[in-house]
Amino acid sequence: MMGNRRNLVFRVSIVINIAVLLYAAMHLSGTTSNGIDWVPVNVDGQEPARNAELRYLYERRAEPRNETETRPDALLKTYDESTSQKTPSTVATTNKTASSTASVVVPSELEITSDGLDIVDENALSEATLLRLRSLLNCNEREFLPVTYQRGEFWVLKNYVRADHGVVLCHESITYTTHAGYEFLDNVLPLVERWMAPVSLAIHAPGADLTPTVNSIRYLRDCTGNDLVRSFVTFHVFFSHKHIPSTIPDPESFLNTPYNCSNSAPYVLTNSTYMKQKSLLYPVNVARNVARDSALTHFILPSDIELYPSPNLVPRFLNMIARNSKPLNTSTRPRVFPISIFEVDAKVKVPSTKTELQDMLKKKKAIPFHKFVCPTCHNIPQAQQWMTAAETTQMEVFHVGKRKGKFVIWEPIFIGTHQDPYYDERLSWEGKKDKMTQGYILCVKDYDFMILNNAFLIHKPGIKYYTKNAKRDAIVARQNHFVKQVITPELKKLFGTRDGCAM
Ligand SMILES: *[C@@H]1O[C@H](CO)[C@@H](O)[C@H](O)[C@H]1NC(C)=O
Ligand SMILES: *[C@@H]1O[C@H](CO)[C@@H](O)[C@H](O)[C@H]1NC(C)=O
Ligand SMILES: *[C@@H]1O[C@H](CO)[C@@H](O)[C@H](O)[C@H]1NC(C)=O
Ligand SMILES: *[C@@H]1O[C@H](CO)[C@@H](O)[C@H](O)[C@H]1NC(C)=O
Repeated sequence: MMGNRRNLVFRVSIVINIAVLLYAAMHLSGTTSNGIDWVPVNVDGQEPARNAELRYLYERRAEPRNETETRPDALLKTYDESTSQKTPSTVATTNKTASSTASVVVPSELEITSDGLDIVDENALSEATLLRLRSLLNCNEREFLPVTYQRGEFWVLKNYVRADHGVVLCHESITYTTHAGYEFLDNVLPLVERWMAPVSLAIHAPGADLTPTVNSIRYLRDCTGNDLVRSFVTFHVFFSHKHIPSTIPDPESFLNTPYNCSNSAPYVLTNSTYMKQKSLLYPVNVARNVARDSALTHFILPSDIELYPSPNLVPRFLNMIARNSKPLNTSTRPRVFPISIFEVDAKVKVPSTKTELQDMLKKKKAIPFHKFVCPTCHNIPQAQQWMTAAETTQMEVFHVGKRKGKFVIWEPIFIGTHQDPYYDERLSWEGKKDKMTQGYILCVKDYDFMILNNAFLIHKPGIKYYTKNAKRDAIVARQNHFVKQVITPELKKLFGTRDGCAM
């Protein structure tokens, strides 16, 4: 089973690279559509993917005809690994020289009208869908290079350990952007198993926390029994200049040494982290912004690492976008796509479909998120209707809500884009309501909250109850005061006000 999966992931990388090759070739060939022929070929000449979760990546079977090119090193890396005899037809001979960025031009002749888009499989992305996305989103490719930079008091090692997926074009996937201290990294595998698409993960690793962080990254890449973490997860680390680790391991060297997998996972051994010993606050919004800034795709899902998405969310969402039907094609306001969140009993299996989830809700094995902690924080417009509405075959917008009235303090988790407002980096996780300032800006900018019908997030199993914590309450009071006295007036100056918007 594991070997099988490894093989599948390996072949997925072939397909991804062929898609890139195709785009590069189109770019090089100029904009004459005559020279371009979309010829579907079965890349590996093998049976189709058996795993439905992976299938959508397989649909991109095409190769450029009579096109010649040289690809930049970044593109060649995984491609060369995959030249394993099976795919001689895809190896192009060299003639012209490619630019070193994967900029992509889709000739307008290839644009597909909505009536031309015939989606057979919602869990797959066809060439027609990808072309449609390309022209609808009109997005730019982003750099995928390691960079060390400063962000306020923090040093950021962006792209410290990169996923092996190679080039990801901005329209063809969604990045789950998230953050954690290393003690939460047990969530990475269950998360990526359900997401099956790029993950951008920022890890706060001050002082002595960097060593177990690095070991955790190595463990996840080498010792989990499959290649999903390697293929999809890109790790960034950051720490305050006041808490610089004593040494900063060089990924170039530690990635070349396989991790000793007889050791137990470093993230489960944690008793006390450096962060706790020093009573540091968790800079949650620095972490969120770091993870988001590095995402290669147009669409991003900024989320908390303990929230596991429903399977096939990426292809189903992108097919919905490509279909571009109502209300997507009628509203001109900015938009985000909130996803309903639930908690499940510690002992149950995380549901895979809305139908399964509904069954668990009936049996009280699942509840709406934070029902017992802060019910109003996650009060979602039409939540009851959502829970009773039957699962449908296509992803659609269930309801267009606003962050107003009863929902004025709603802190939704949503699929958005790089255009959405950032999170205020002065707020800590301990101080709570750390997404409120972003929510306020979304409200003032009159964002539509297009709630998705079949998609959901499930918190890592285990239902949470409210526990009193005097120390934390003091931090909360301080942060509330700061938001009220300092941030609110700033945002009013910068973004203005709108009836019904509050913090
Ligand atoms: C390479 O391209 C040039 C024109 O750009 C053409 O004249 C030449 O025949 C091509 N060579 C090969 C091997 O295709
Ligand atoms: C790996 O770790 C185990 C247990 O810690 C140890 O017994 C073993 O010698 C190590 N193997 C190598 C190759 O270092
Ligand atoms: C972990 O913490 C517990 C108490 O919280 C303590 O009893 C135990 O010795 C600690 N273990 C290690 C390995 O430090
Ligand atoms: C929007 O899409 C619907 C199909 O859902 C179509 O009937 C309608 O004409 C489209 N409207 C516009 C303005 O394109």
